[in-house]
Amino acid sequence: MPIVIRIGGSVVASPTNPELLNQYANLLKELRKKGCKTITVVGGGSLAREFIKIGEQLGVDEKAQDWLAIHVSRLYALLFILMLGKNATKSVPTLVNEAVRALKEGKIVVMGGLKPGMTTDSVAAQIALETNAHLLVKATDQNGIYNKDPRKHKNAIKLDEITFQDLGQVLRQDYHKAGIHQVLDPVAAKMLQKSRIKTVVVNGYNPRNIQYAIEGKKIGTTIMA
Ligand code: UTP
Repeated sequence: MPIVIRIGGSVVASPTNPELLNQYANLLKELRKKGCKTITVVGGGSLAREFIKIGEQLGVDEKAQDWLAIHVSRLYALLFILMLGKNATKSVPTLVNEAVRALKEGKIVVMGGLKPGMTTDSVAAQIALETNAHLLVKATDQNGIYNKDPRKHKNAIKLDEITFQDLGQVLRQDYHKAGIHQVLDPVAAKMLQKSRIKTVVVNGYNPRNIQYAIEGKKIGTTIMA
C-alpha cells in the first residue's frame, strides 16, 4: 500500500531551500529502493503566496489567484522530478488518475495542486483515498500538532496523539481563502477521518522524521481515526 507524503511549502519553499529539496529527493529514492511506493504532494510556500498577492493587486479573482499558487506548487514538483530522473514520472501529474497510473508503473509520484478552492493537504487526502494509502505523513514547519496555535501561544503543548474528532476543535474552521496556512486543512482532516487513514504530522526540516513516521517510530503527532 502506498504512502502519501505531503511536504509543506512552508518547509521547502519559504524561501526555497535547495539543500532540503535535495535531501527530500534522496529520501524518496531511498524509500523506492526499499520497495516503498510514495506519492508526494508539495506546496508552493511563500512564492505561491507572493503570486496570490500580486494577483490580488492586479485585480484577478480568487479562483485565478488559486491557479497562480497551483502553478507555483507544480514548479516545485517539477524540481523534484528533475532531481529524481528516471525514478520518477516524466511530468507532474495534474489529475488524480494520472498520479494513480504513474504509481502503478512503479514510479515515484510528485505533484502539486489540482484545482482552485482547495489546498495541497486536500490533494494529498484525495490521493490517499484513491490509492488506498494506509498512511499520510505531513511535513510541516512545526513539531506536530499543539493544543493551541504555537505561533500565537507560548504555552502551547505539543500532542503526541490526537483523534480526528478532537483535532476539529484545535483547528479553526476557516472557509477556504487563497494562501491560508494551517497545520492541517480541516477539509483534508475530514476526508482522512472518513476514510480512517492514519496521519502523522512531523517537523519537515529534518526529512528523516518522515522515515521515522513510516517506520512507526514515535515522532510528531499521530492523528487517529
Ligand atoms: P497550500 O497552503 O496547500 O501550500 O497551498 P503550502 O505552501 O504547502 O502550505 P503549508 O506549508 O501547508 O502552509 C497554497 C495555496 O495554493 C492554492 C490555495 O490558494 C492554497 O491556499 N491551491 C493549492 C489551490 O487552490 N488548489 C490546490 O489544489 C492546491
